[in-house]
Amino acid sequence: GVQTCALPISGLQCSQALGAGPRTTRSGAASMASKTLSDAVRGGAVAREYDPYADMEIIEDTNTADVVRKLAAIDLGHNRCHQITEDAPPDVDPFALVKEELAPLSREVRSQLEAQHESLTDASQHFFGAGNTREGKRVRPVIVLLMGRATQDASAAEDVLEGNADRQRRLAAITEIIHTASLIHDDVLDAADTRRGGLAVHKKHSNQAAVLSGDFLLARASVALAKLRRTQVVREMAKSLEALVQGELMQLKSSEEERLSLEYYLTKSYCKTASLMAFSCKSAALLSGHELKSEVTVAA
Ligand code: FPP
Ligand code: MG
Repeated sequence: GVQTCALPISGLQCSQALGAGPRTTRSGAASMASKTLSDAVRGGAVAREYDPYADMEIIEDTNTADVVRKLAAIDLGHNRCHQITEDAPPDVDPFALVKEELAPLSREVRSQLEAQHESLTDASQHFFGAGNTREGKRVRPVIVLLMGRATQDASAAEDVLEGNADRQRRLAAITEIIHTASLIHDDVLDAADTRRGGLAVHKKHSNQAAVLSGDFLLARASVALAKLRRTQVVREMAKSLEALVQGELMQLKSSEEERLSLEYYLTKSYCKTASLMAFSCKSAALLSGHELKSEVTVAA
């Protein structure tokens, strides 16, 4: 079902075509499948109790200002072991810590971006080429990998830890694919000529190719997400996609009054930049086996 939700920002509306709500708004296909299953075990208590879609709520009604307020209200003081203003910077290079896990990222992503059409493959792989400066800093994958490592339960069995780490590596790549898609689209929206010291995708190819390659990246990221086989992670990452769109919209369309509002600025920045990192970190904690509402996942 298509839903409309009012954003906290005056004049903006967004449409969610994502079948929200676990019981009341599931898609026709979903309720049909559920009905068929009920029919198959007709009459028994099992038919009423078993609901394969109970955990399938994709996204809640969005109120980003609320999300930002709640995030700001979380007190993580007791988790903090470092004071930026008082302590010296820690003697650690986060990039070096995950260097080995990061090294194959571009190659692995490239193998997921083989399209039937050569120019679509070219445009989609533009930022995942081997050994060139277009790869960027890979800040997001580094953060995801570190969060994955930090949230693992060291007392778990070796094969469980390795399985979690493998999914977290795949999540790191997914996060970078989503980020890349958003940059390709952003350069079209901003009519930017360059990105990372080279031509923007739409300048090298065309607007059509850039829009479609961004879409293609999102499509492949969705497949990779589904392959993690963790519904909650799919759900959290879906929220980050919506937040990116919302942030871009807030940046593109704002009144003079909104541009002078600190809350508007923080909400826009959370949506456009922080949300993808936040939802990815949360997902990394989920992939370490923590519950959605656990202290670890909330802190992540
Ligand atoms: C760069 O901002 C843009 C982003 C970080 C997000 C862009 C988001 C969208 C285009 C929404 C669509 C999302 C998806 C997933 C396709 P900037 O223009 O301020 O920075 P820049 O100078 O690096 O371009
Ligand atoms: Mg831009």
